[in-house]
Amino acid sequence: MKKIAIIPGDGIGKEVMDAALRVIDSLGMDFEMVTLDAGDDALKEHGTALPEETLDKAKKSDAVLFGAAGETAAGVIIKLRQALKTYVNLRPAKSYPGVKCLYPDVDLVIVRENSECMYKGIEFEPEAGMSVAMRVITEKASKRIAEFAFKYARDNGRRKVSCIHKANVMKKTCGLFRDSCREVAKKYQDIEYDEYYVDAAAMFLVLDPKRFDVIVTTNLFGDILSDEAAGLVGGLGLLPSANIGDENAIFEPVHGSAPDIAGKGIANPSAMILSAAMMLEYLGYRDEAGQIEKALEHVLLEGKVTPDLGGNLSTMGMAEEIVRELHST
Ligand code: NAI
Ligand code: MG
Repeated sequence: MKKIAIIPGDGIGKEVMDAALRVIDSLGMDFEMVTLDAGDDALKEHGTALPEETLDKAKKSDAVLFGAAGETAAGVIIKLRQALKTYVNLRPAKSYPGVKCLYPDVDLVIVRENSECMYKGIEFEPEAGMSVAMRVITEKASKRIAEFAFKYARDNGRRKVSCIHKANVMKKTCGLFRDSCREVAKKYQDIEYDEYYVDAAAMFLVLDPKRFDVIVTTNLFGDILSDEAAGLVGGLGLLPSANIGDENAIFEPVHGSAPDIAGKGIANPSAMILSAAMMLEYLGYRDEAGQIEKALEHVLLEGKVTPDLGGNLSTMGMAEEIVRELHST
């Protein structure tokens, strides 16, 4: 039986997790699930935001389903991604019919390098009034992520991969990343390849998102551009993600714990539910994943949604609509 580690975390992480579990439970699938503590609340309770038991059970699971952490996010999700060696962060951004958004026809995927760059966490203060962060880029990790992006494009009928970097300024680090992507691109003659500086890419994403298909980029740029992509398609409540490595995988919404709306029961559960669908697909349940996405699409189209999308349903209310739709045929 597949083992799933459930880490709800803080704030709306817990609320959207309950909604996603309601949807998964309704499918009557046999999983061995274990719920684990992590985040700000875990820090208060256990004195550590990422208890040893959580890390250990997450490593031993077939997949981790993660909600969101609060202020301890760096010590929880970034640490988990690194400890579980999930070097890919896959973030699809797609507009759904019926959802008010800037562009009704966006369908792009951000492939973010997940193991290095500015998020390596190497920061120090050589002297008072001076702080230094180290940006680490390796050829190995850059080629590995480029390889994933091109293979993903080929396997999923995508036409183009765009490398996003800033090699005109960060000549060594971004230069190595860009050159690694170029090198890998040569092996995939059937997939178009182009390059953008990150600042120009940020503008083109807003002005003309259709020029992008699969984006491959470094960790920090990928973090920023994926929130921007969320903004194009209707907000953070809609963007799921998968962190994938050779042994482990973590599925989580792109958003955080949203303290501004936490406790009100109004968080949009779509990103979490779509993340759960990505998990099911990863675990080999492609049909069930597709059914969940179809049911969600229907509910979005009918406007049975939470306030961020202009509706008046609660988090669990929206999940119940999805469950109803799942079992209506
Ligand atoms: P955030 O993603 O939590 O919220 C940004 C804005 O989007 C807020 O106005 C929020 O209400 C809205 N929003 C987010 N998810 C939503 C949903 N499902 N439905 C409706 N509205 C939604 O980012 P923010 O405010 O920068 O950070 C809040 C906390 O979350 C911080 O403590 C931060 O460290 C943490 N965080 C954790 C992450 C993780 O665990 N992966 C990722 C990003 C932030
Ligand atoms: Mg982010």
